[in-house]
Amino acid sequence: MLNVLCVVLCPHPCFLGPGQPCDCLPPLRAAAEQLRQKDLRISQLQADLRRPPPAPAQPPEPEALPTIYVVTPTYARLVQKAELVRLSQTLSLVPRLHWLLVEDAEGPTPLVSGLLAASGLLFTHLAVLTPKAQRLREGEPGWVRPRGVEQRNRALDWLRRGGGAVGGEKDPPPAGTRGVVYFADDDNTYSRELFEEMRWTRGVSVWPVGLVGGLRFEGPRVQDGRVVGFHTAWEPNRPFPVDMAGFAVALPLLLAKPNAQFDATAPRGHLESSLLSHLVDPKDLEPRAANCTRVLVWHTRTEKPKMKQEEQLQRQGRGSDPAVEV
Ligand SMILES: *[C@@H]1O[C@H](CO)[C@@H](O)[C@H](O)[C@H]1NC(C)=O
Repeated sequence: MLNVLCVVLCPHPCFLGPGQPCDCLPPLRAAAEQLRQKDLRISQLQADLRRPPPAPAQPPEPEALPTIYVVTPTYARLVQKAELVRLSQTLSLVPRLHWLLVEDAEGPTPLVSGLLAASGLLFTHLAVLTPKAQRLREGEPGWVRPRGVEQRNRALDWLRRGGGAVGGEKDPPPAGTRGVVYFADDDNTYSRELFEEMRWTRGVSVWPVGLVGGLRFEGPRVQDGRVVGFHTAWEPNRPFPVDMAGFAVALPLLLAKPNAQFDATAPRGHLESSLLSHLVDPKDLEPRAANCTRVLVWHTRTEKPKMKQEEQLQRQGRGSDPAVEV
């Protein structure tokens, strides 16, 4: 037996000729010691595995976090589903978030209802049709009339009084709920970091927005941690020259000011000011995103798809299958 092991383990195996001695005890001892060390290491690793993982230092329980209410107006168009899928999947990365999706429609559409149901998000589905007088006329440029005003105000109504939900969570936040409200259009690009910047807003928080107002970015100018002005090229004398995507409002503040809402008749560029002037003095804005030095949201615009070939095929009765949702 020893001789067989000897052949296997001896660094210089000795011939097992008749009468030839073979001293392989030292290599056997070394092999046994190696095995012992490995056994020791394995039992150390097993003990490590059994030990509970160290408690993470930072993220608190989701229940302890203020809720972020994200208000998104949306309207039917070719790119609607693509925009909403992209946004819903961004929002899925954010804990403790409640999506208020408000359709510009008489009632809920199957496309939006289906998308919300599949999103896995906590949501409330609302719908209100923009009155005809406020609707953009054929051929009118987009900036003539502010878009999404009725829809954002409908979401504010729901937060204050509830009622009218056509899907998802029906009851408004109970009194005393800690939260923050953010108006997130469906075509912008949002970093998940932005939501953690706004979560602990006390009054109104602000940050820069990229690719807006004909500039690389627009945003508050901050000195010693206070907002002292705004970097903007266009109508700098507006009371709040901020983009819709550039601020968030604490829920308790919105509830304490029941008359604060968006004014559909506000002049161009003054829609944000029409809400904010009810809520806060510009000097009390809370700068976020490293004193407004980081851009975490971009005012991206999706190009309108050209449907020339589609129309051509439709004329020949060979258009893309209308039963396939796009
Ligand atoms: C913002 O500026 C203030 C005052 O200069 C400073 O105390 C604070 O640390 C800054 N905050 C961040 C996140 O950079």
